[in-house]
Formats: sequence, C-alpha cells, structure tokens
Amino acid sequence: MSLPDLTDAERQAVIDLLHTPNLSMGNEIDGFERAIAKFVGIKHAIGVTSGTTGLHLCVRAAGIGVNDVVITTPFSFVASTNVLLFEKAIPVFVDVDPQTGNIDVCQVAEAVADLERGGEAARRWLPRKGAEHAGKLKSILAVDVFGQPADYDRLQPVADQFGLTLIEDSCESLGAQYKGRMTGTLGRFAVFAFYPNKQITTGEGGMIVTNDDEAADFMRALRNQGRAPGDNWLQHTYLGYNYRMDEMSAALGRVQMTRIEELLNNRQQVADWYNSRLKEILQVEPPVIVPDTTRVSWFVYVIRFIKGIDRDAIARKLIDRGIPVRPYFLPIHLQPYMMDAFGYREGDFPVTEDLGKRGLALPFSGKMTEAEVDLVCRTLVECLEN
Ligand SMILES: Cc1ncc(COP(=O)(O)O)c(C=O)c1O
Repeated sequence: MSLPDLTDAERQAVIDLLHTPNLSMGNEIDGFERAIAKFVGIKHAIGVTSGTTGLHLCVRAAGIGVNDVVITTPFSFVASTNVLLFEKAIPVFVDVDPQTGNIDVCQVAEAVADLERGGEAARRWLPRKGAEHAGKLKSILAVDVFGQPADYDRLQPVADQFGLTLIEDSCESLGAQYKGRMTGTLGRFAVFAFYPNKQITTGEGGMIVTNDDEAADFMRALRNQGRAPGDNWLQHTYLGYNYRMDEMSAALGRVQMTRIEELLNNRQQVADWYNSRLKEILQVEPPVIVPDTTRVSWFVYVIRFIKGIDRDAIARKLIDRGIPVRPYFLPIHLQPYMMDAFGYREGDFPVTEDLGKRGLALPFSGKMTEAEVDLVCRTLVECLEN
C-alpha cells in the first residue's frame, strides 16, 4: 500500500549514531525537534514514541480526566478516540463533512451549545451507554483527515466561547496548509505521526507541537516518566510515562526533514497523476480538496465509488490482480469495543458510515512511478467493467 522514501543519507545518520554511546535523549532528538519547530513555525516540538502517545500527552495537558466530555469525529483512525478512553473521558461524536470527511463544524457548534445547556438537550449528543456520569465539556479534538486540514477558523471561536481546548490531530497532515497557515499551529496542541506510511518516517514516532510554554514543560515531563524541570533521575513530580523517542528514530527523522519539500512534492505528483486519470472514470469520485486548503499534504489517496457500486467486490478483484487496496476508514463508533462500551449502532453517523462504505485507499507513496499509477487505474477500469 505504501513505501517509505529513504536515501543513504538517512541510513548513514543511523549508522553514525550507533557509533556513539547516546542512544536516548541526545543531540538527534534536539535536532529533529528544532527541524520540525522551524518547518511548522512554532515554539515547541516534543518528540515522542508515536502519534498515539503524543495525543495522549495532549489529553493530559488539556486536563481531560474521568467523565470529562470531548467532542470528536468518528471518521478517523481509532487512536484519536482511544487517547480519550485512556483517561476514562467520554468521547461525543459528531458527524463529518461529506466532501472532506473532516468534522462538521455546524454540528460541533450545535453539540457544544446543547452540552452546555445540559439535560435533554445534552442527551441528544451523548452516547446511549457509558455516559451516565458525564461531566464537564472540556475539549474539541479535530482531525486533519487524509492530510487535509479541518476548518479551524470556524472551530476556534466555538472553542473560545466556552473555554474549550482545541486539540489538532495532525498525524496525517505534516506540511499541509489551511488558508496559508501550517497544520500543527491551528489548535492549542497538535501532533504529527511518523509511521512508515506517513509523509516522513522515523519507523515509529510522533511529535507534539505547541506555542504554550507551560503545557510544553508539562508534556516534556510526562514523556520522561514525570520528571519535572529540575528533578533528578529518580524524582518524579508527576505520574508520567516512558514516551521518549529514541535517538535512532530521531536521526532518521532529522534527515527526512532535510528532504521534506522533495517528499511532499513527490507525493503531490503521484496524487496529480491519479487525479488526471480518475476524473475520466464515471464510477469513481476522486478526493475533494476545498478552497481553504492552501496545500494538501497527501497521506493516502482515497477514492469513493458512486452509490450502487459494490466497493468490496471491486477491492477483492483488485487484490486478486495484485493491486493492494484497503477500505478506509472503518468508522470508530462501529468498532466492536466502542459498540460494547457506548451502545453505538449502525445508522448513528450516516455521513461517516457512507464515506466508510464507499471509500477505498489505493496504493500510494512518493516513490510510485507514473507507469505504476497508470497500471492501478487501468486495472481499476477493468475491474469496474467486468
Ligand atoms: C488520524 C490519526 N491519529 C492518530 C494516529 C496514530 O499514530 P501512531 O500510529 O503513530 O500511533 C494516526 C496514525 O495513523 C492517525 O492517522
């Protein structure tokens, strides 16, 4: 489905690092954090072990705890909701925009107003089960789905009006721009992820970014077993974790960042090749990029079939012909553990479910050639024809 784009420069950086004794918390993580902070244009970047652990620290920094309520999206990778469950908070889903798959801002505004009002109005949004002791509405957690930013200029005022922390899950969107502003700068905290299918990779890894000095200190402490500034190795001011990114990963990431524009441009080129071929295929809707998205950072290339086409049958045919594809996303509220815990049912979030049923991720990486894209598209046409 995807391929990391690595050169000998990345390989050499890791080998050089292995000739030093500093395999954790050395110069490489400092260098990688500085590179991300500079690229994004933000004060603090904090390297962690994954996007998930980064988001978990944002949840802690936002003060989200037991029974606190957070508005978020069911059309995402599960981690954006799981980090709320780690703290026993209650995720309240709202549906998404049918074009972008990003959280529907009108529904967010309605949900916030109703949850603040409480009583019957609030119950309309709360899950059927598991919300008997729902407490204070604390935060909005938005996701930049597939590398396209959510609509932050409309989310921020809603968050501000009610004193909510806006968290940006930018795990899929390193380098994307919303009205000329970089993702990562659009909420109070944001997180990038570096699994090998991402725009840059560190193997496993993530990076929290924020302009908030106090929260940055707190999150640096939490990733390092709760050691506050001034604590020694065996002093732990807070309940913390070992979420430190190691030096080998950071070395890889630091060198990848020297190539970031090349990597993003290559991905854009592959997306352009797909776009130009797929616009000819009537049964397929290529990804929709809205005018507020100044730059997409292509993470995956997800098409939607028009209604009436059996997505799963086409997917099977493509796989049989050697083209790896994957349905994308399976909605979070329909994952078995979410249905058990919160009583969600099919039909609860129709737009999310519709996108989930019609969406198919095609093979995608910045290393694909035009001939490979051509082969995928020609095979897709064949599968649709017979
Ligand atoms: C939207 C979103 N959030 C969170 C994550 C979690 O990142 P990681 O796999 O690095 O933990 C991902 C990873 O794919 C993601 O796509």
